[in-house]
Amino acid sequence: MAYQGSAKYYDLFATDKGQEQNFYREIAKETGSPVLELGVGTGLFAFLLAEDGIEVVGIDSSSAMLKEAMRKQRHAPQAIASRLTFIKADMSNFQLDQMFHLIYVPSGSFQYLTTPEEQKRCLQCVQSHLYPQGLFVFDVYLGETEATGAWRRLETKPLPKGGTVTRSISTQTLKDQRAINTALRFDVTDSRGRVQETIIDWSYLALLTKEELEQHLKVAELDVTSLYATFTRKPWAPGATKAIFVTAKPGK
Ligand SMILES: C[S@@+](CC[C@H](N)C(=O)[O-])C[C@H]1O[C@@H](n2cnc3c(N)ncnc32)[C@H](O)[C@@H]1O
Repeated sequence: MAYQGSAKYYDLFATDKGQEQNFYREIAKETGSPVLELGVGTGLFAFLLAEDGIEVVGIDSSSAMLKEAMRKQRHAPQAIASRLTFIKADMSNFQLDQMFHLIYVPSGSFQYLTTPEEQKRCLQCVQSHLYPQGLFVFDVYLGETEATGAWRRLETKPLPKGGTVTRSISTQTLKDQRAINTALRFDVTDSRGRVQETIIDWSYLALLTKEELEQHLKVAELDVTSLYATFTRKPWAPGATKAIFVTAKPGK
């Protein structure tokens, strides 16, 4: 399963999310509290929103990722920690006793829902947890890279206690299944370069089209109010491989 063994290294490599984090922070400031993050992981986005004074609930299906989030929460200043709630739940089928002004799914995590049924059920859950005029915002990767499954080394990071961890990736596009198989490998060495541990985490991601998503959103009665190609709000145009949907629940 994805995001179990490698959860402890997630933040170390997630260093390129600045624009995306600013985008979701701006939206959360507009909508106000409370907000819900689906696939909250280690809380990379949730902690920033909490620093901005927003109350955030985050759900995730990986207990290892939630464990990291909660460890960070225990060490955070009380004011920030008190605005965060982490819950183990599946984003394709959740029932929380709370409504939200914003529900968001960053880092392309909506693509972990690999069947149209799961995607539609998630949107139904979103609809039933949003206040009228509440926003549902998410981003997906629309590209269909020809990927062969060969390992590619991405980067090496030093570890705080000495030694290094090297992250490599292997992706394979399964066109007939409308899916991408991704494996991330983490090779951990000690300070003398001796291999200590190798972790491989697999992910199976949906290949989606803009039209499929628009159809699902229509059925769930979520109106698309903006569609961007970048987190700096460049409007989406044919050929763009990123689609960032800003949608709203109708009503007063
Ligand atoms: C790429 S990480 C993103 C984490 C965090 N949102 C971020 O942007 O740093 C994807 C997260 O989605 C979670 N996830 C995948 N499928 C899920 C599901 N069906 N329900 C809830 N969480 C899920 C994974 O466990 C993982 O923590």
